[in-house]
Amino acid sequence: MALLPLRKIADRPNSSLATAWLGQIAAALADDATDRAILCRETLCEITYPEYATDWESAVEDRGLPLATRLALSALDPRNVTLEPEYYAECDDTRFQKVKPLLWLWYSFDRTALGGQNVELGVQLRRLLAPHIFKRCGENFKAFHHVEFSFGYNLDVGDNVVVHRHVLLDDRGGIVIGDGASIADYANIYSHTHSIVDQKDVTNAVTTLSDGTRITYHATVLAGVHVGENAMVGAVAVATKDVRPYHVNVGIPAKSVRVKPNAPQDALHVTTVKPR
Ligand SMILES: CC(C)(COP(=O)(O)OP(=O)(O)OC[C@H]1O[C@@H](n2cnc3c(N)ncnc32)[C@H](O)[C@@H]1OP(=O)(O)O)[C@@H](O)C(=O)NCCC(=O)NCCS
Repeated sequence: MALLPLRKIADRPNSSLATAWLGQIAAALADDATDRAILCRETLCEITYPEYATDWESAVEDRGLPLATRLALSALDPRNVTLEPEYYAECDDTRFQKVKPLLWLWYSFDRTALGGQNVELGVQLRRLLAPHIFKRCGENFKAFHHVEFSFGYNLDVGDNVVVHRHVLLDDRGGIVIGDGASIADYANIYSHTHSIVDQKDVTNAVTTLSDGTRITYHATVLAGVHVGENAMVGAVAVATKDVRPYHVNVGIPAKSVRVKPNAPQDALHVTTVKPR
């Protein structure tokens, strides 16, 4: 294997526009008087239907426009859409309604030409939004496109955490993500589960990804699992039980196949493990 650190890329020609736009959103988020639903709606309208941005209300009522256009315009306002967690019995509506406009902005931005796979701008915008959605968000949070949450407000995120594209962070029962953890493409982290007898019988349990953990692509971590410090869950694995610090667990159900060579002595005491 070769060490391949990320390349530095020169600023885009539109960098000053991006900086100004992000500054505008940051200022609105910092202002307690901001109505987040209107911030979400106006931002999305300016991106997707700029011709209606100055008079969104009239456009929604305009019988001269196709019904689908009026409906699509109305859906830019988070009060006109429902998100799945709103149907959950234990949803704390006061908390959820506060974060919902920002979740809707996040998800919808990711589906525009401005967002999508536009890495630099997307990472910066999500870094602005995250501290206003999560219970806690540390420094340098980095999320790529199409990440989804349940409540959002039950996430406790440390410093230097990276979440790659198409990750599901189901924080229904709470997720704690430690410093320097990385969650790779298409991984699923759950914190709720259903009874095998009655679907409505739900158990919520906090799932923990400790400092330095790596959940690799397409892996799933089930509710209540504690992934230990610097542990790794291999590609497509399903972690049904705790993962010991520095261990590499693979397969379904995920089992330890080795301990990282940099593990301290006490991480080695597992018989199924093949230290390098
Ligand atoms: C977890 C992983 C790093 C293990 O790599 P490794 O330490 O080199 O382990 P090995 O390849 O020697 O595999 C050890 C055993 O586990 C098996 N194994 C490895 N990865 C597996 C996986 N994801 N699922 C099922 N079995 C796996 C191997 O077949 C081997 O079995 P064997 O002893 O019967 O032959 C690697 O397989 C993996 O899943 N990588 C994901 C890609 C990645 O690195 N992502 C980084 C984040 S983006």
